[in-house]
Amino acid sequence: MRVIADIHKMQSQAGRWLRQGIRVVLVPTMGCLHAGHLSLIQRARREAGRKGVVVVSIYVNPTQFGPKEDFDRYPRDLKADLALCRKAGVSTVFAPTDQAMYPGGSKERFDTYVVAAHLSQIMEGHSRPTHFQGVTTVVAKLFNLVRPVVAVFGAKDWQQAVILKRMVADLNFPVQMIISPIVREPDGLALSSRNRYLSPGQRGQATVLWRSLQHARKRVRHGGVGAARLRSEVGQLVHEQPDARLDYVEFFDGETLVPVKTVHRGTHMALAAFVGRTRLIDNGRL
Ligand code: PAF
Repeated sequence: MRVIADIHKMQSQAGRWLRQGIRVVLVPTMGCLHAGHLSLIQRARREAGRKGVVVVSIYVNPTQFGPKEDFDRYPRDLKADLALCRKAGVSTVFAPTDQAMYPGGSKERFDTYVVAAHLSQIMEGHSRPTHFQGVTTVVAKLFNLVRPVVAVFGAKDWQQAVILKRMVADLNFPVQMIISPIVREPDGLALSSRNRYLSPGQRGQATVLWRSLQHARKRVRHGGVGAARLRSEVGQLVHEQPDARLDYVEFFDGETLVPVKTVHRGTHMALAAFVGRTRLIDNGRL
């Protein structure tokens, strides 16, 4: 397995792969890899086939964190990540530095951002106003540096996946986008690098996101339910947890993110909640 930190080396390698007709599949990550990432890597390996290459990028992207968010304490463990990638059959890890990705600092000399004008304003974007412009910008940069034909993202960040698919379509990136299913703990908690912030007591309460999804699924099994009513039921469920606070819960069309007034089977639901200081998200088709 090759580890590349230098963006010029990455770009030259990508050019060679392109000229040799080698199929490149990219899994963009922020590291701290867990079983959810491993499922993305497995999917990428299937897509790459025997002759293709799987590139995993590991980069905690500063521009997608707000000033009061957890950028500084976001877990980083490159050594463990590299060991996992090696074991998972990754061909190349691309782990650039901040200085290389945003020369002169992300706020000073770097001046060009990719922004999904409308989709980035709602749900996660409402709570984290500059988050998605950081995500779309860094993913556009990664696509230009690695030049994948396929990229694999996780369904846990559903809004991110929809926005990135829209970016690829709107800006004509020649990349096939694959969204791979959420991996969950046995009790339903979606795997996330942020789960490690939870104390044992909070860890138990964190299943309320999964239980809220299950509650909504049950409620719409026999017909439509008003979104406002379901929102208040989910709010109540979250409220019953002493350390939890609902940030938002939304019901919408899974492809377009357009909100619905009446929730049916097949409607998509997404929610974010704080458990202690840890902000968790989850989503699913009802
Ligand atoms: O989903 C993530 O881990 C990040 O948002 C991504 C796509 C790697 C961009 O930094």
